[in-house]
Amino acid sequence: MHESLVQLRDDALADLAAAADAEALEAWRVRYLSRKGGALTTAMSILGSLPREERPAYGAAANEVKAALEAAFDARQAALKDAALAAELAAGAVDVTLPGRPPSIGHLHVTTQNLRQLYAVFAGMGFEVYDGPDVETDEYNFGLLNIPAYHPARDMWDTFWVSQNKPGFSEKPGLFPKLVMRTHTSPGQIRAMRERCPEPIRVVLPGKCYRYEQITMRSEHQFYQMEGLAVGKGIRMTDLIGTLREFARQMYGSGRKLRVRGSYFPFTEPSIEADMDCVLCDGKGCPVCKYTGWLEIAGAGMVHPVVLRNGGYDPDVYSGFAFGMGVERPTMLKYSVKDIRYFYGNDLRFLGQF
Ligand code: DAH
Repeated sequence: MHESLVQLRDDALADLAAAADAEALEAWRVRYLSRKGGALTTAMSILGSLPREERPAYGAAANEVKAALEAAFDARQAALKDAALAAELAAGAVDVTLPGRPPSIGHLHVTTQNLRQLYAVFAGMGFEVYDGPDVETDEYNFGLLNIPAYHPARDMWDTFWVSQNKPGFSEKPGLFPKLVMRTHTSPGQIRAMRERCPEPIRVVLPGKCYRYEQITMRSEHQFYQMEGLAVGKGIRMTDLIGTLREFARQMYGSGRKLRVRGSYFPFTEPSIEADMDCVLCDGKGCPVCKYTGWLEIAGAGMVHPVVLRNGGYDPDVYSGFAFGMGVERPTMLKYSVKDIRYFYGNDLRFLGQF
């Protein structure tokens, strides 16, 4: 082979081996293989100046070199592409042995925790949980509980009435009962009695209640209550007081004192308010108990004869007691929560603390 062609081939292959990226590769191609001014084209162009007998061998050798360089170029190009891909994969690689991101695990809402604690205490005294509906009829929420029409809870300012402004409703007045968002859990008393009569009853009725009230630090338009009801033969006020005392002891520790005051509720007779000595100051007086030494824990009383009768029980044979307590309020006292709106504001900074 012509010496200059050997030189050209060896130089070109050495240069190619040194071309490290696509840019260098392209420069190499232009330099050696381009038709215009490429080294090979230049080498071919001297063909005419060679002695006639040398031309065929030179031409064949030049073509051989060209084919060799083209093949080498293709191979180098493929190798560089593979290397680039490998580098890219290595850089973006996922290390499957890394630990995953831990899912954030939630927990029960403070009210749910609280309710479960209440259920446990009352379950220990033989009370089962009885659920009533959140949307009640006017009759169950008020009428059957002996709440007269003039009772303030019936006022539109205290009650959310469920809109029944639907086709067909107004044409048949009286056919559909008036509906309210229950303003208290007491209507569940009637439901439990009507379902269980004449069996004895011992139930707690937890649930959300709704009132059309101004929302402030101390009052929300939705809140939980838990009602208690015991109906049977020979149930007395002392059973009620003993039950509440035992509740206070289990919830807030032994040695808690209980006191009762006379009160009024339309659905109990007689009615009482039960207070417990303040858990924060042990009855000495502090801002939480407003320096009285006492915290109100429940409204309660002996089930009114009218209510017993509405539930299907003969008040001459049966008697019962009932109580109703707030659920958020004790939590507020216990943890010094200043604003009831935190409970349902869905702020994890608040909820995460319990
Ligand atoms: N339902 C009453 C309220 O919402 C609370 C209550 C008081 C319930 C006395 C009772 C009771 O069962 O006996 O204010």
